[in-house]
Amino acid sequence: MTFVEFVGAFLDEAAIAVVVTDAELNRPGPTILYVNAAFGFLTGRDHTSLVGTSPRFMQGKDTRRTSLDAFHHTLKYGGRFHGFLTNYRPDGTKYRVEIDCRPCRGPDGQIFAFIAFQREVMRRVGRPSVGQAGRYTPTNISNTPVTAALRTMRVFEEVIEKDVL
Ligand SMILES: Cc1cc2nc3c(=O)[nH]c(=O)nc-3n(C[C@H](O)[C@H](O)[C@H](O)COP(=O)(O)O)c2cc1C
Repeated sequence: MTFVEFVGAFLDEAAIAVVVTDAELNRPGPTILYVNAAFGFLTGRDHTSLVGTSPRFMQGKDTRRTSLDAFHHTLKYGGRFHGFLTNYRPDGTKYRVEIDCRPCRGPDGQIFAFIAFQREVMRRVGRPSVGQAGRYTPTNISNTPVTAALRTMRVFEEVIEKDVL
């Protein structure tokens, strides 16, 4: 079983959006190896058409370069990126997305892929609390067994990168 098959077996039907890329961070990489149906729904695209493209296709004029630089930098140095980006759907509407992106390492310690969990968030009304996570609230809360499993992996928890926005 390949890594992508393994991820698919677990996450094809998950309510949370998942995207796996190869480990090539430099343009035109990273290249998408896998997305689930929820990722197609989140991004407004046919999820079967996304393998082979780069996640950059979702970016637009309000996607902050400083956020992307932080994203790139964190992955380059083997870290987990947890942050918020503005992305676009094909009809031009923009949405705010929370991304928890992690390196996948082989037995030799080398990174062979990245996996990102994503969900749409909205800016919370009222005085923002400390840190970015407190400023946003998910637009949908899922409560499937996979959600519980991901919670044990602390997906979307902790480590909000500083200075990302
Ligand atoms: C697994 C994974 C998922 C990503 N998902 C997104 C995404 O949903 N939206 C986005 O704008 N960038 C996403 N990116 C980031 C871009 O692919 C790219 O790494 C980023 O633009 C920084 O690189 P650059 O400085 O060359 O632009 C993702 C990257 C990886 C590795």
